[in-house]
This record gives sequence, C-alpha cells and structure tokens, in this order.
Amino acid sequence: MAIEWNPGSWQLLPALQQPSYPDAAALENARAELAALPPLVTSWEVASLRQQFARAEAGQCFVLQAGDCAERFSECTSPRITNQLKILIQMSLVLVQGSKKPVVRVGRFAGQYAKPRSSDFETVNGIRLPSYRGDLINSTEPALQARIPDPQRMLRGYERAALTLNFIRALVKGGFADLHHPEYFDLDWSLQSPKAEEYRRLVHSITDSLCFMENILGTSAGGSDRIDFFTSHEALLLPYEQAQTRRVPHRPGWFNLSTHFPWIGIRTASPDGAHVEYMRGIANPIGVKTGAAHSPDQLLRLCDLLNPANESGRLVFIHRFGADKIEAQLPPLVRALRENGRNALWVCDPMHGNTRTTASGFKTRGFDDIEAELGRAFDVHSACGSTLGGIHIELTGENVTECTGGARGLSDDDLHRAYKSEVDPRLNYEQSLELALLTARKLSRS
Ligand code: PEP
Ligand code: CO
Repeated sequence: MAIEWNPGSWQLLPALQQPSYPDAAALENARAELAALPPLVTSWEVASLRQQFARAEAGQCFVLQAGDCAERFSECTSPRITNQLKILIQMSLVLVQGSKKPVVRVGRFAGQYAKPRSSDFETVNGIRLPSYRGDLINSTEPALQARIPDPQRMLRGYERAALTLNFIRALVKGGFADLHHPEYFDLDWSLQSPKAEEYRRLVHSITDSLCFMENILGTSAGGSDRIDFFTSHEALLLPYEQAQTRRVPHRPGWFNLSTHFPWIGIRTASPDGAHVEYMRGIANPIGVKTGAAHSPDQLLRLCDLLNPANESGRLVFIHRFGADKIEAQLPPLVRALRENGRNALWVCDPMHGNTRTTASGFKTRGFDDIEAELGRAFDVHSACGSTLGGIHIELTGENVTECTGGARGLSDDDLHRAYKSEVDPRLNYEQSLELALLTARKLSRS
C-alpha cells in the first residue's frame, strides 16, 4: 500500500546507515530544537537552482559540484573556507572558458558532516570501536565514549553550516569573487603550480573579454553579485533533514531548507528505502548517486518515485562506476532513460569508483583513473545521444597528498607527507586545477 508522504514518513521504511542513539528522548529534544531554528537557505534560491539544473539538462550550462568528502567541525575556519571558494571559482572560470557556457557552482559544504560507512565497527590502534560516522553523529577520537552517537551534534552541525554559509555569502557579496580582480581568489601557492601559466593565460583572456564587453555595452558585467554559490550535502542522517523540512508562504510543497541540493548516497539509494521516501516529498532538486548498484529498471523506478511529473531540473543522477567499468555499465542506464523519455541531469563523479588502498594502508585514488573515467563519461554520453551536464569532485584548496599522479607525479610513497582526510582522498589544489583544465579541453572539443 502506498504511504502518504510527510516529513517523517520515512520512519515507516528501512533506514540504512542511521546511528542508534541510546537516548530517544535526547534525540527528540535535539530534533525539536533544530526544527524551531531559522532555515539556512531560502525556497527562492532552491527554485533558482532547479531552473539552472533544467538548463544544464538542455546543455545550456555546466554544473561543477565539488568540496570535501567530509567537512569537519574543527575545520570551520576562515582560511579553509576561503581556500575552498578560491579553488571552486578558479575551476569554474576554466570550465566557463572551455564550455563557453555559464557554470553553476555547487559546494559540497555547509552541511557535509554525515558519512555512510561500509562497516558498523572499525579497528583503531588495535581496539575495536563503533565506526566514525561523521562529525554530525560522533567523534573521530578512538575511544568508546566518543563513538557513541550524540544528537546534540546535529545542533553543532547546523551551527557550523550556518557559520560557513554566512561567511560565504558575505565574501561573495563583498566582491571576493569579482572577476575584475582575479588576484582576490588566487591561492598562495598557485604561482608555483606546474599549471600556473596555463591558468593565468586563461584568466587574462577572461578579464580582457570582460573589459571589452563592458566598453562596448557601457555597463558592468561579471560583478561579484553575479556569482552564485549553492550548497549541497548527502542527506544521510534523516532526523537532521526532517527537522529542517519546512513549508513556506506563497510557494506550494515542502522544502529542505538546510541546503539547496541534497543527494542520496549510493548505499542508501534503494527505491524501497527510507531515504528515497524522504526525498520524494521535498521540492528541492535532488541528486541520487548511481553505479553498478542500479539496474536500468531500478533507475526507472527511482524516476517514477522521485520525479513522477517528469520535470526537468528536478532529478540529478550522479554516476560513479570506476574508469574500467564505465564504458560497459553506463550505456544501459542512459539508454533506459532516453528510451522511456525520462528527464534527468547526468553528472559524473569520477572519484568514488576509483578508490584503492596502498601497501602502507592509505586510501587513495590515481589522477589518471579520475581523468580517464571523466573522459569516458563525456564519450559515452555523446555516443548515446545524451549530455553530460556536470562533474562531482572531492577536493580541497589545501596542499594535501591524498591522491596520486597529476602534474607533480605524486606516488604512493608521497602520500604520508600531508594526508589529512579521515575518510576519502581528495584532489589537492594543483590536481583540481589540472582536472578542470583537462575537462575544459574536453568540453571545448564536444
Ligand atoms: C561521497 O560522496 O562521499 C560518497 C560516500 O559517495 P557514494 O555514496 O557515491 O559512495
Ligand atoms: Co567521499
């Protein structure tokens, strides 16, 4: 029997990857407190992103979704937030130049605090502990007490998300992203990057064209008020998402106002699960990670459940197969949607299918694999008569050594130097810029 949707109807279905909170009353208190706090984003921003996704679906713009695998409460700092914005702006300029289209910037930030885990337990320093599930749920500290899920962390996460977003909005409003001043968003070490010259040439050509246009039109273009940043996170911890699901005046439906763009991770993307039930009732654009886990029929069921009116801009499939699998596994999914006339935006995540562990135990990803999966994604979509409308990347504006390869040729032996991630390996600043340059080349050819 069909369930009537409400923000809590997901509780009637199996909810994977949820922590078991020891104190139900404490959870309820935290949820009620969160539900009374003001929203982080507005419904008109959410509606605007939906329109932009609809344009990306039609090939009129390109989506760059990027950020940390997991944000940390301790890293809600000015340098980290500005570095993240800087690399996002730089990558997006490179992509604008390559695609000759507007680029929609979506950060994996201001809420990316909950992580799915493959196992409920992990062994740290020889001690078996409940797994770390993200700062929204428990602590990384290797002690039993610290690993017990604490519902108060939902409030701390909401506050960190609000602080992050507040700073981002102020920076953007204040001219940080002004295209007339690319020096505002230069990163300290960008001058030493092997790709610095290529980037600099490209930025100059953009500022030149901007000046040329402004002289001709006699108006100002590309000012800071024209740059938008949207937020996104994996909508994993359902009590957190439910508490921030609201109605608004003058607009029908329910909105998740904790973020513009929530997505469902691959481990919770079953059409029969609680996460799909929750997401089907909100008016945000929604993402679903997909890959070998979905058959064409399951993908069509997800379309039926999540986008029954078949609207453009509503549903985003973020595929992540692995460089060696994408050519065999993506075409049947693309064909299923095309042959059944289903609308969705396709985005490639070339990170999560390419993870491996080194001999010394570091989780890493090779730049060549990431580039190969992305390149193949463009080719497969084009061969199937479909469009790749965006990319989804895990990166940081910091100079970490977590992924191998790239212009500096990092090897497995380099990883120990600056490996900071508690979860997945991210592209560092230089590798991110290089990936943007390669993607731009691919876009300009297609
Ligand atoms: C992620 O995006 O960090 C993630 C866990 O991805 P996936 O659900 O695709 O494994
Ligand atoms: Co990840």
